[in-house]
Amino acid sequence: MKDHVVIFDTTLRDGEQSPGATMNTGEKLRLATQLEKLGVDVMEAGFPAASEGDFDAVSKIASKMKKTEVAALARTSKEDIDRAWNAIKHAEKPRIHTFIATSDIHMEYKLKMTREEVLQASIDAVRYAKSLTDNVEFSSEDGSRSDRDFLCKVFEAAIDAGATTVNLPDTVGYAIPQEFGDLVKYVMDRTPNIDKAVFSVHCHNDLGLATANTIAAIQAGARQAEVTINGIGERAGNTSLEEVVMAIHTRPNFITTSTRIKTEEIYPTSRLVSMISGIIVQPNKAIVGANAFAHEAGIHQDGVLKNPMTYEIMKPETIGLSKSKLVLGKHSGRHALRDHLKNLGYDLSDEEINLVFKKFKELADKKKHVVDEDLEAIVTEGILRTADTFNLEYQNVTSGTTVLPMASVKLSVKGRSVKGAGYGNGPIDAVFNTISKLTGTESELLRFSVNALTGGTDALGEVTVRLKENGLIALGKGADPDIITASAKAFINGLNRLEYLKNHPIQAAESL
Ligand code: KIV
Ligand code: ZN
Repeated sequence: MKDHVVIFDTTLRDGEQSPGATMNTGEKLRLATQLEKLGVDVMEAGFPAASEGDFDAVSKIASKMKKTEVAALARTSKEDIDRAWNAIKHAEKPRIHTFIATSDIHMEYKLKMTREEVLQASIDAVRYAKSLTDNVEFSSEDGSRSDRDFLCKVFEAAIDAGATTVNLPDTVGYAIPQEFGDLVKYVMDRTPNIDKAVFSVHCHNDLGLATANTIAAIQAGARQAEVTINGIGERAGNTSLEEVVMAIHTRPNFITTSTRIKTEEIYPTSRLVSMISGIIVQPNKAIVGANAFAHEAGIHQDGVLKNPMTYEIMKPETIGLSKSKLVLGKHSGRHALRDHLKNLGYDLSDEEINLVFKKFKELADKKKHVVDEDLEAIVTEGILRTADTFNLEYQNVTSGTTVLPMASVKLSVKGRSVKGAGYGNGPIDAVFNTISKLTGTESELLRFSVNALTGGTDALGEVTVRLKENGLIALGKGADPDIITASAKAFINGLNRLEYLKNHPIQAAESL
């Protein structure tokens, strides 16, 4: 049995299946680079048979990664496996991950296959994958609701056929920790050749138990955990990487194993995922939420000042949350900015630095201290986002208790300037109406939320919107000290993402 837990990150595959979380290839590459820095053992880069876009992204990621294993997902068909292999064959460390459902309900209604047929398909798929690479993972979809003895039989056959990892997913997030730990032990005890493979688990969070189930499985002997950053993923999400890693790190006497994760990269990675997926982290989220290390109660604050360990079970620095957030001011130079961005994980070109520097100076004129989150917002808006159709040039709003809210807005639409004015129920409504008119779009606003990126009244406001147009759904994000400007930026970002989806029908279909 391995003495450490293999961290298999599936943010780029299962995580990307979060409603509205579509990432483009450039964003995926940037995230993959950060995942390698974080030290994940394996990253599942995507499902190449799903679309051309997925194939292209997986292939580019596979070329770029030096140390990390790059996995590609495939159903059991030869076509899927070929597609997966063609996307990763040039990787330093490729892994084919093939899966088929093993629960009676999935076999009968979804696959319309008998147990014997599923068993044979598993063997054939693993054998074929093994003819292409030594590194093959087999997953029994809906494993936690499968017949236990059938599961043992399928795993035994998959290992005989060459699987080097067997993965037991709780696909629908149905398991309870004790039950799941028992299941892992049962299957490990009754799969005679289990010592020839790594036993893995993959949990979903429908009952809020994904982390607890994963830890129970690790305590029962599993040595690979499939996880995502911030727990993003299908429906209620997947097991969150940061929770599993920090539970193992914080309770070594109880969970007697380790991971190879560089914990100081957890927070920067979490921020990056939130920025590029557009999915905000709930403030009370364990480990990476804005309040995870904030102490509000007077008694707690007093205790923490006397000894942080009175109320803090982990040090914020351990996850890469800098103690002092005060970083740069209006007199800071380009060199300091470049150095600081490098520390935050952004290795930018001269051209990119010039762009960020200009925006940084503009912000420093409005705000005394520019902190990490401010810089990240600038980098995300200016650099991480790819060529946009619509860009905000300016917006002005008149609003108050005695006037009808009115906005005047100037945009560039594919490089051409347009301007106009419009009314609304409130200042934000007025801006959104005007932007819709100028862009000729008719999106429906499904969600609108505002979050202060840092403390203080001069904090950047971060706005997230969820938009729907012609059946397509996209998230948009924007940050600015002025909440109305932040809203306008978020709305325009959402419209740009909708435009992207309109021009990429396959990714659009996946985003639904
Ligand atoms: O949830 C699941 O069962 C999966 C498999 C493809 C591993 O994502
Ligand atoms: Zn899954």
